[in-house]
Amino acid sequence: MPEAPTILVFDSGLGGLTVFREVKAARADARFVYLADDAGFPYGDLAEEELIARVTDVLGQAIAEHKPDLVVVACNTASTLALAQLRTRFSVPFVGTVPAIKPACAQSASKLVTVLGTQATVGREYTRALIREFASGCEVHLVGSPRLAGYAEAELAGPPPAESAIAAEIAGCFVEKDGRRTDTIVLACTHYPLLLERFRTNAPWPVTWLDPAPAIARRAADLLRERRSGDPSPPPQIAFTSGRALWPKLAATLAQYGF
Ligand code: DGL
Repeated sequence: MPEAPTILVFDSGLGGLTVFREVKAARADARFVYLADDAGFPYGDLAEEELIARVTDVLGQAIAEHKPDLVVVACNTASTLALAQLRTRFSVPFVGTVPAIKPACAQSASKLVTVLGTQATVGREYTRALIREFASGCEVHLVGSPRLAGYAEAELAGPPPAESAIAAEIAGCFVEKDGRRTDTIVLACTHYPLLLERFRTNAPWPVTWLDPAPAIARRAADLLRERRSGDPSPPPQIAFTSGRALWPKLAATLAQYGF
């Protein structure tokens, strides 16, 4: 029986936990290291050159330390910018997280789809190229939020944001045109599934919220299919680049994820 693989899951903060929980469910036998570069949060505010340098540096150190068999970049803001360079720089396989535009457009009946992400992600050429290639007759609206990732952090580890604040951030996602309405919204930031119930409460009409995490987990599991171990998995590890201490609400949240 081969040794259990090590999977490094990386994000700017707690958002990547939405991907981590799916990958963990798909590969319960693996050893997991979750790395939050919270000293650099929010990535959505960083200039492109700065973000590439930061992600390369932080991941380089983590790869040297943990020697993962797979790295999951559980962050759209980083993946849409740095994935190609990370693959060139490091030999370990990477699974990225990029806006799920293709499945969203394929399943939309009204052909009005919204991509909700950080301002950086929705502005990237990578995202625009996905729309050019996969919109398949859909009208795709891009909504960049400067605040939602911070709200998601607060929801898990601080004072939860007000309903009115959430409603204001998602209002632009809902488009009515020629008797049609947006019916599918792509969650193009891994922090946003943490706010899903709040989004549903504040939506002016019901839509499908598309979370790519299950698809990412399938891809990660597929890449490691030869490395199935019969051993019980060790408890997952978590590290914050800020070195922050775990205050009670954060510790309780992390305990729910098995840390
Ligand atoms: N979780 C991240 C993403 O998927 C980014 C949040 C941020 O740091 O701005 O885009």
